[in-house]
Amino acid sequence: MKVYKNIMKIRQINSQIEYAVELLKAGELVAFPTETVYGLGADAGNQIALNKIFKVKGRPKNHPLILHIASISQIENYAVNVPDLAYKLAEKFWPGPLTLILERGENTSKLLTGQQDTVALRIPNHPVALALLEGFGGAIAAPSANRFGRISPTTAKHVEDEFGKNIALILDGGASQVGLESTILNLSSKQLQILRPGQVSSKQLAKLIGYQPLTASQYETTIKSPGMLKSHYSPLTPSSLKSRIELQKIIKKQDTNIGIICHSIEPDGLDNSIKIENNPATYAQKLYASLRQLDRLDLNHIYIEEPESNSDWLAIKDRLLRATQ
Ligand code: TXA
Ligand code: MG
Repeated sequence: MKVYKNIMKIRQINSQIEYAVELLKAGELVAFPTETVYGLGADAGNQIALNKIFKVKGRPKNHPLILHIASISQIENYAVNVPDLAYKLAEKFWPGPLTLILERGENTSKLLTGQQDTVALRIPNHPVALALLEGFGGAIAAPSANRFGRISPTTAKHVEDEFGKNIALILDGGASQVGLESTILNLSSKQLQILRPGQVSSKQLAKLIGYQPLTASQYETTIKSPGMLKSHYSPLTPSSLKSRIELQKIIKKQDTNIGIICHSIEPDGLDNSIKIENNPATYAQKLYASLRQLDRLDLNHIYIEEPESNSDWLAIKDRLLRATQ
């Protein structure tokens, strides 16, 4: 009986994917799950479809998109002068939460790259995304499936809340396992740079590269990676980070018009409080859903406990600083 149910489920998913492929080929937008966050996908070779992404998201045209591909052999369809290191990194971390910035190939449109001469590529690690990419055959351009500047979605329901009927289809692949957007590594600059920290850490990259790539504080941010805007990933409710001690004082006041997100202290039964497990992997998984949950409640303010200052919390801290600007 269980086997039968599983077969039914696989059949349903397969027919949904076939439908999604048809929609993409017809220039429609399809949201799909990845291990990081949900993406808003369009045929990377279709200018009309790409324009729809910018329109639906309210995203400025100078913000480049990530191209999702199905196999390493597709890199050269979109990038040129690809260094050996890119292949080594791809072999090690793909499918997975690492995006590589490479020199743009001639046939890769500047609409995809925000007019820049570089292109962002990754193979996502999610069975539904991989099946979709296999079925589609070409690259799928996909930013996170949220309106510009807002919190990235980690469930199909979040995507529905963002776009409702404005997109043709949302493939539901459950909650994203990683919960934060991919690490972005720039291989097109003289010195390698991490443009956005993510689950693939600088330490892991250094093991393979042989040295630590530069991080945001170490290079002039002349390179345009606009997801690194100071304010991004933001709830609508005013939000701020507080030290453990400050937050404990706030909790004591038992104000029911505020929201709390903490991980190392107890919220003492305060309404509208969420305690996330004190573990960076679980915290990353739950953060965006928690922010969305509190943001719906029409509160005066959301107070978030400051994360630890060690490298395991780096990507989380990066997003929290932007969310609370
Ligand atoms: O995990 C992810 O990367 C998710 C999933 C859906 O794959 N996608 C995602 O896309 O976060 P988006 O569009 O929300 O963020 C893409 C980031 C932006 O900060 C953009 O500026 C940067 O990638 N980016 C894209 N192409 C670039 C390029 N050629 N040079 C520098 N930055 C680039
Ligand atoms: Mg985004």
